[in-house]
Amino acid sequence: MSGNTTTDKAITIRNLVVDYGPRRILNGINLEIPNGQIMVIMGQSGAGKSTLLRCILGLKKPTSGSIHMLGTDIATASRTDIYKARKQIGVAFQGGALFSSMTVAENIQLALHEHTNLDEKTIQIMTRIKLDMVNMLEAENLMPSELSGGMAKRAALARAIIMDPKLLFFDEPSSGLDPSTAAELDQLILTLKKGMGMTIVVVTHELDSIFKIADHIAVMKDGNLIETGTPQQIIASTNPEIQGMLNRKPRETIVDTDAHLRRLTGGF
Ligand SMILES: Nc1ncnc2c1ncn2[C@@H]1O[C@H](COP(=O)(O)OP(=O)(O)O)[C@@H](O)[C@H]1O
Ligand SMILES: [Mg+2]
Repeated sequence: MSGNTTTDKAITIRNLVVDYGPRRILNGINLEIPNGQIMVIMGQSGAGKSTLLRCILGLKKPTSGSIHMLGTDIATASRTDIYKARKQIGVAFQGGALFSSMTVAENIQLALHEHTNLDEKTIQIMTRIKLDMVNMLEAENLMPSELSGGMAKRAALARAIIMDPKLLFFDEPSSGLDPSTAAELDQLILTLKKGMGMTIVVVTHELDSIFKIADHIAVMKDGNLIETGTPQQIIASTNPEIQGMLNRKPRETIVDTDAHLRRLTGGF
C-alpha cells in the first residue's frame, strides 16, 4: 500500500492473535486500513473474518497484539475507552438485528436518544435525512416484520450511520439478498464513501460485490491474512489459493459444449 504515514490509516492492526479456548483462530494478523476508503475482507467461511471484526469492535479481547483505531488501542483499552471509541463507529451486522417491537424510525433513533440531548423534532428530522439516504423514507412507521430482506438491511444501515460515524463496519451485507437488491446495497455503500467520506470495512465473500466496491482487499484463510492489495493486485496474484477463490465458476460456464461432450463420451 502507498503513503505509509500513520495519519492516513484509520485502523492499524499488528500481530493480532486470537484463541477460543485451546484453538488458535487468528494467527498473527497485520493489516492497515486506509482512511476514507473501502476495505473488503474476504475469505472462505471459518477463515476468521467475523472474529477479526469482533476484535476491532472491542467485542472480543485478543490473546495478544494491537488494534489502533481513532487514537485508542482497542486490544488493551478499558471498557470506558472502548465505549468512547465505539460511539464514533457504525456497525451493520449480518441479519440486520432491528428491535422487533419498535418502528423503523424508532430503531434508527436509538443512538440519538442514548448519546445526545437533541429535542424530538431535531431527532425526527435527522432520522428522516438518514432514511432518505437509504431510500426508506416511506418505511418510517413500519415494523421490522413488515420489511423485505433488502429493506431490513437498508434500515440497519440507516441506524449504523445515524451518528455520522467516521468508520462503518459491515458483516456480510448482501448475504440472503437477491442479486439486484445486493447491487443496490453496493451502490449505497459507494454513495456513503463518496458523500460522507467514511472509512468502510466490509466482510463478504460475494465476488461480484467485492470487485464493485473495494479500494483494497484483504484475503483471509484459516486465521491468516494471505494477501492484501488493490482489486487489480488481487486479480493478478500468483497465489494459487487466491486464484482458487476467484475462479469458483459454476459448471454451467463450460462454453465449448462439443468438446465437453467428447470428453464425457470418450470421443464417440
Ligand atoms: N464464540 C466462539 N467460540 C469458539 N469458536 C468460535 C467462536 N466464534 C468463532 N469460532 C470459530 O472461529 C473460526 C472463525 O470463525 P469466524 O470468525 O466466524 O469466521 P468467518 O467469519 O470467516 O466465517 C471458526 O472455526 C469458528 O468455529
Ligand atoms: Mg462471518
